[in-house]
Amino acid sequence: MKNDGLIHIESMKKIAVLTSGGDSPGMNAAIRAVVRTSVYHGCEAVGVFQGYQGLIDGDFKRLHVRSVAKILGRGGTILKSARCKSFHSVEGRRLAHQALLEHEVDALVVIGGNGTFEGAMHFCRETGFPIIGIPGTIDNDLSGSDFTIGFDTATNTVVEAVDKIRDTADSHNRLFFVEVMGRDSGFIALHSGIATGAVAVMTPESGISINDLVEILNSGQASNKTSSIVIVAEGHPEGGAFEIAKKVHAIDNKYETRITVLGHLQRGGDPSCADRVLASRLGVAAVEGLLSGKRNVMAGVVNDQLVYFPFEEVIENKSASLKDEVRIAKILSI
Ligand code: F6P
Repeated sequence: MKNDGLIHIESMKKIAVLTSGGDSPGMNAAIRAVVRTSVYHGCEAVGVFQGYQGLIDGDFKRLHVRSVAKILGRGGTILKSARCKSFHSVEGRRLAHQALLEHEVDALVVIGGNGTFEGAMHFCRETGFPIIGIPGTIDNDLSGSDFTIGFDTATNTVVEAVDKIRDTADSHNRLFFVEVMGRDSGFIALHSGIATGAVAVMTPESGISINDLVEILNSGQASNKTSSIVIVAEGHPEGGAFEIAKKVHAIDNKYETRITVLGHLQRGGDPSCADRVLASRLGVAAVEGLLSGKRNVMAGVVNDQLVYFPFEEVIENKSASLKDEVRIAKILSI
């Protein structure tokens, strides 16, 4: 055992790791960090396949230091991921607990988003089993960490795509509506909108009505904008890009409009440097957190400091923190 200043829980010998919910670039880097940190501190690492479903089914496999070689820079997750309905029930969680005990697992690291931590929270309350979470979602909608693993890569993917759309939009003097992911929150939309100079960013947080949008477009045209890109967050209350374009057209049909839905390409690709570093940092923090007695919390980075917040707090809505982005996007799009 390393003399590293950690209070090692002597009984903690086997640590399992799983990925759950929508995958995100950098999950593999987090798995690698969890496995290597476990081994570094004298523990055995176990991978659970297919998220919580694999936990229920006992789909476990021992992972060695070399099992996670060359995955640091690969998108997706070698452990696979799933959205598991059975884990929503007490019975499903009881079966998962039983499988962990049968495999003599002492603690679990879960990498995922909102749904993953809601499940983990119930599981901890019912069983008392030690769990630590790592934020892995492109949506960046978790409190308790400034950024989630995958957000940086996904946003860069959107920026690359919108820059290309801009070229053709400009050649044809067209208006484009580009729909991006983010479920109920506008992090991807606002960050990519600011980075690509969108004329408007339609998110649940931005409070732009269809009438406001028509006004914005008209004043852009009056001040000689040759092309316009409207970024639409998929979770906008007025609908996605198709619906919003239709509503704009119903009020003012002078624009030649095209629509692009970026979809799941936002979830793939090699993780950026920032995501690899964040995932590595949080993977180490998760295992060392467990070894120093932390439980039922998510490891995160806030103001560049490592922090741990309880699951019930991290699943709270974080949209209020987008106020600044909403204002910046508005000011700079004139
Ligand atoms: O949570 C990540 C996310 O990509 C959301 O942005 C999106 O709404 C959802 O997952 C899509 O889920 P699925 O891949 O199950 O269709």
